[in-house]
Amino acid sequence: MRDPWNDSELVQRVETHQRYSLTRAPLNAALCGVIARDRSLHTLLAHAPVEQQLPVLLLAAIHFLVIGEPDHELAAWYPNLTSDFRDPADPALARVLHDFVNDRGPSMLDLLATRRVQTNEVGRCALFLPALALIAADRTPIGHIDVGTSAGLTTLLPRFAYRYDVDEAGGDEGAGDGEEVGAGASGDVIGDGQPLLVCSTRGAVPVPTEIPTIARARGIDLDPIDITDPDDARWLRACCWPDQIDRFERLAAAIEMARTDPPEIVAGDAVAVIRDTIDTLPSDQHPVVTCSWALNYLTADARRAFVAELDAAGAARDLSWVFAESPALAPELPHAPDLRGEHTTALVLVRWREGERQVDHLATGHPHGYWLHWR
Ligand SMILES: C[S@@+](CC[C@H](N)C(=O)[O-])C[C@H]1O[C@@H](n2cnc3c(N)ncnc32)[C@H](O)[C@@H]1O
Repeated sequence: MRDPWNDSELVQRVETHQRYSLTRAPLNAALCGVIARDRSLHTLLAHAPVEQQLPVLLLAAIHFLVIGEPDHELAAWYPNLTSDFRDPADPALARVLHDFVNDRGPSMLDLLATRRVQTNEVGRCALFLPALALIAADRTPIGHIDVGTSAGLTTLLPRFAYRYDVDEAGGDEGAGDGEEVGAGASGDVIGDGQPLLVCSTRGAVPVPTEIPTIARARGIDLDPIDITDPDDARWLRACCWPDQIDRFERLAAAIEMARTDPPEIVAGDAVAVIRDTIDTLPSDQHPVVTCSWALNYLTADARRAFVAELDAAGAARDLSWVFAESPALAPELPHAPDLRGEHTTALVLVRWREGERQVDHLATGHPHGYWLHWR
């Protein structure tokens, strides 16, 4: 039976997310189907701040509680928590989800009121690595500054292993012959606790034979996640979709790495702190600023101001900036003219050398780093 309140804004959002996730996240889609029909579930979202009343927030809150109770019946539907998971189409899901959430009302309300959707995608390091190698060819060691760093997991870039495979369907001669890059690369998605990032390539991706030397890495974030706080770390895992098992596993492995040796993060607004953060690097380190899916969270004016800060810093010392951002959502960045307005992940390298700025539109990539198409 359809929910009598199905014309509400919240139900529409949940149903839209259900359609969106159907092909690549069947469990999320099934959960959304139940949530849309069950008023006790979708109305919970009204307890979140207005800008966070998103189906992914509710799914993350449920996921957070399920991760903490892996023996509960509901956990049997989660592909990331059990290998022999139950069919998302199993009608029992509706009752089990309803009871699970309603029995945990106070915890759910607390999560919805206080948490916001925040992710940290280590797979984006596979996009950054070839660009960093291009920079390191004539400027080394690197002083890495990742802006909008979340928990700072992409500052662990030198500690991951990488494999770049040629996408045979690409038609042209790809680079990356399946060779692995990074100490201890084992061939498994997670080997000895080290995530392996596998990236399919088209075009002449300059895959390095070794990871460039990074003398120091720091992140900047307005609202950093403290990876040493068990609840923050669990929330980060909860924001990762349970259907995407390899993503979840490599995130969990990166969190473990970060817990024992936490990333250095400057808490602050990107525009306000970028200059100081660059200026504090010693002159024997070449500053490399990276941004991935972060600048779209700034206003248009703030993005312009951020670019102006980098221009000013680049006038004073050699500087490089690698960004993996959406031309449609961050149009004030120096994107290639043919990508303007496109909803894709554009990988761009901007170099300031002796005050001169040069922009290279390197590639387009998968938002989570699964493929890289060199231009
Ligand atoms: C979607 S996350 C991306 C995190 C990371 N770059 C990645 O690729 O996984 C966007 C991050 O940008 C941060 N952020 C948003 N506005 C910011 C600002 N004005 N200054 C610094 N960080 C900001 C958010 O707190 C969040 O952690």
